[in-house]
Amino acid sequence: MSSYVKGLEGIVAAQTKMSYIDGAAGKLEYVGIPIGDLASNSTFEETVFLLWNSRLPTKAELEAFTKDLRASYALPKGMAERVKTVPTTAEPMHMLRTMVSALAMHDADPNANSVEAARAKSLKVLGCAPAIVAAYDRSRRGLDAIAPDASLGFSANFLYMLNGEKPTEAMTRAFDICMITHADHGLNNSTFAARVVISTLSDVYSALTAAIGSLRGPLHGGANEGVMKMLNEIPSVDKAEAYVMDMIARKERIMGFGHRVYKAKDPRAAELMTLAKQLAEDTGNMDLYTKSHKIEQVMEREYAAKGIYPNVDFYSATTYHCIGLKLDLFTPMFALSRIAGWSGHIIEQLADNRLFRPGAEYTGPHDAPYTPIDKR
Ligand code: ACO
Repeated sequence: MSSYVKGLEGIVAAQTKMSYIDGAAGKLEYVGIPIGDLASNSTFEETVFLLWNSRLPTKAELEAFTKDLRASYALPKGMAERVKTVPTTAEPMHMLRTMVSALAMHDADPNANSVEAARAKSLKVLGCAPAIVAAYDRSRRGLDAIAPDASLGFSANFLYMLNGEKPTEAMTRAFDICMITHADHGLNNSTFAARVVISTLSDVYSALTAAIGSLRGPLHGGANEGVMKMLNEIPSVDKAEAYVMDMIARKERIMGFGHRVYKAKDPRAAELMTLAKQLAEDTGNMDLYTKSHKIEQVMEREYAAKGIYPNVDFYSATTYHCIGLKLDLFTPMFALSRIAGWSGHIIEQLADNRLFRPGAEYTGPHDAPYTPIDKR
C-alpha cells in the first residue's frame, strides 16, 4: 500500500468526464468548455444536460430535457406535509439533508441502481429540491407553500416559490449563473462522499444525503455563509483592512479564500465578482461589493505568495445577498446546484463501479498484553 497522505491531497481516486480543473492556471471546464463561456451563454438546464451527457444538447434534446425536469418540480405526495413538520428553528441545511433522505421513502423502488434508474432519481431530486427549500423557508415565516410553476425555468421557478412573485429577468439570470458556476467541481469533498456511498451499491438518496452533510461544513460550501457574516461584521469599507489584518494576526482563516486545488484565483470567483458588482450596483449594495473587493486586495498582498486567492464562496455571498436570499439559504443554494454534479458522479460511479476502500496507516502498539479488568 502507498504511504499516508493527509487529506488525500494529490491522490487521484476517480475518473470523470465532467469537470477539468487546472489549479495552477485557475482554469475550470465542464466537458471541455470554459466555465466563463458557460456562465455567459448557457442556462442551468443546458449545463446539466452537458454534464450528464458529455455534450451539449440539440434544441430538441434541450426541450425534452427541460420538459422532464419541469415534470419533476412537484414534491412527491406526502412530502409537503413532511416539510411542514420540520421545526421552524432548524438550519436549512439540516432540513434539506433530512428531506432529501426522506425522498427515498416516497420512491416505490428507492434502491434501483441501474444507470437509467439513477438518472431518473437524480432528475427527480434535482427538480424538486427547490420546492423543499422554498416550502421550508415559507413555513418558518408562517406562510403557505407555493406550488411550482412548470412554465418557468429552474431558477425562476425557485425564486417564484420562495417569494411568491415572478422574479425579474435580471434576477433570474443572475441566479442561473450561480447555478451554472456551482454545478460541478471534480472530486471535491462532498462529491467524494457521494461516490464513496454509492460505491457500496447503497442508493442515490443515501449518496446525496451524505454529500449534503459534507457540503454544509465551513471548510467547504458552508464558507459562503461565513463570508457574509464577516462582511456584516465589518462596519464600513475603511475598517475592512484592519479587520482582516486582525484575523491574520490571530491566525484565523478568512472564509472564501484558499482552495485545495486552485493556487490561482478560482475562475468561478472571477465570474461571480463581475456578477456581484453588477447586482450590487442594481440593488444599492455597493458597500458589500467594495468591502469584498478591499478584502481581496489585502489578502492578495498578504497571501498571494502562498497561493491563497478568493474561491467560489467569496463573491457568491454578495451575489446571493443582492438576489435577496437570507444568509442561511446561501449554502442550500450551493446544494440545489451541486445536486447536478453529485448525481453526475453517482451515475459515473455506477457505470464503472468498484467499492471505495482505502487503507489506514496503523500507528498503535503491537502484541499488547490483554490485562484482566481487575488488574488495570
Ligand atoms: N485564510 C488564512 N489562511 C489560510 C486560508 C485562509 N482562508 N486557507 C489556507 N490557509 C493557510 C493555512 O492556515 C495553512 O497555513 P500554514 O501552512 O502556515 O499552516 C496553509 O494555508 C495551508 O492550509 P491547509 O488547510 O493545509 O490547505 P487545504 O488545502 O487543506 O485547505 C481550504 C483548503 C480548507 C479550502 C482552506 O483554504 C480554508 O480553510 N479556506 C477557508 C474556508 C473556505 O473558504 N472554504 C471553501 C473552499 S471552496 C469550496 O469548498 C466550495
